[in-house]
Amino acid sequence: MVSYMNIIDIIAKKRDGKELDTEEIKYFISEYTNNKIEDYQASALIMAIYINGMSYREIKDLTMEMAYSGDVLDLSELGPNVVDKHSTGGVGDKVTIILAPLIASLGIPVAKMSGRGLGYTGGTADKMEAIPGYNTGLSESEFINSVKKIGVSLITQTLNLAPADKKIYALRDTIACTESIPLIASSIMSKKIASGANKIVLDVTCGFGAFMKNLADAKELSKTMIEIGKLAKRETICVITNMNQPLGYAVGNSLEVIEAIEFLKGNMPDDVKDVVLELGAYMVKLAGKGEDIEENKKILLENIKNGKAYTKFLELVQNQGGDIEYVKNTEKFEKPKIIKEVLANKEGYVQEINAEEIGKLSGNLGAGRKNKDDKIDLSVGLVLNSKIGDFVKPGDRIATIYANSLEKAEEAEKDLLNIYVIGTEKILEDTIIDIIK
Ligand code: URA
Repeated sequence: MVSYMNIIDIIAKKRDGKELDTEEIKYFISEYTNNKIEDYQASALIMAIYINGMSYREIKDLTMEMAYSGDVLDLSELGPNVVDKHSTGGVGDKVTIILAPLIASLGIPVAKMSGRGLGYTGGTADKMEAIPGYNTGLSESEFINSVKKIGVSLITQTLNLAPADKKIYALRDTIACTESIPLIASSIMSKKIASGANKIVLDVTCGFGAFMKNLADAKELSKTMIEIGKLAKRETICVITNMNQPLGYAVGNSLEVIEAIEFLKGNMPDDVKDVVLELGAYMVKLAGKGEDIEENKKILLENIKNGKAYTKFLELVQNQGGDIEYVKNTEKFEKPKIIKEVLANKEGYVQEINAEEIGKLSGNLGAGRKNKDDKIDLSVGLVLNSKIGDFVKPGDRIATIYANSLEKAEEAEKDLLNIYVIGTEKILEDTIIDIIK
């Protein structure tokens, strides 16, 4: 590393719209990870990247430096193809909870590290912790041994993987730099590379409740992550999915786990089913277990119907210390003090349920964190009893609020009546928007 390199020159270069070279990116990541660059200087550089963008070469350098800023798992003992999936974030997204045991039930190893919720989006690790006793904090050897023993493990980012991403992601969240293609692409791909996968399926969400609000940006983000994948020799496929309204009916930690468990028992909301089968079919393909996507979907569906995926979920929960009685009987999950029905006040078709607004509403009820160390209330959230395309009449229940404060429940009811847009025309939206390879 060149000794005279300094962060001020690097900030100035990116501020002026120039391309950073490999050594400069390496310097920034290693010095920032080791706390030798201040947060305010890192913020300035991140903001300059947000405004001026990065070339593919810069994004790839940034990704690889972040990926190797900590430990990199070697999962090669699990087989030649280790497939991972990741979502760019959404509301009501319980897909990982379903896919992990479903894919594992086909004999394909699943070693999945999931994040926590921040802002208005939820996190799989928080949701799994709604099952009493479930331990998301396994060590590296416990994690790998679990996958060897039962074929699946689902943990959170407790290991020292991509620590540079952890720091930069937390910083971005406080300086309005979340919605940036180079920053999202490097954040996700660095984590995937550090987690040891060589095949990656990405759910690139698009719409009100996603970081990518329009299709052009979702495609560009997909292309960028696929390019990085190529350069890093990780085959990557992106499925662009609709996140205008929340996915499924439930939003909130226990409520989403219950919906995921019900799915594994065969009660599948259409939109969740579409996303699970599409992503799952590509995971099976990348694992080398089936070339035909439609055939793969049938095989996945079969393992829901014959109970194999559900049985694998019981094994997963038991293996990580969770109480499987909650899985067998979801009535056991703790309910909040207030369960309030929201009734439609006009007739027509539901045309819009803004997922970002729903995510914020659920967060306000206590399901999400405002700061990363906040404690969350696992029992609160909401169930959307009507979704886009449904016809409702005054007095029909459109949603149910789960709250621990009457004041918050009443506020949520008022907000929901505004968030639900009801009109005369029936609108139908596709769940799977595009596949980018
Ligand atoms: N998910 C991530 O892991 N990183 C981002 O930047 C956005 C979504």
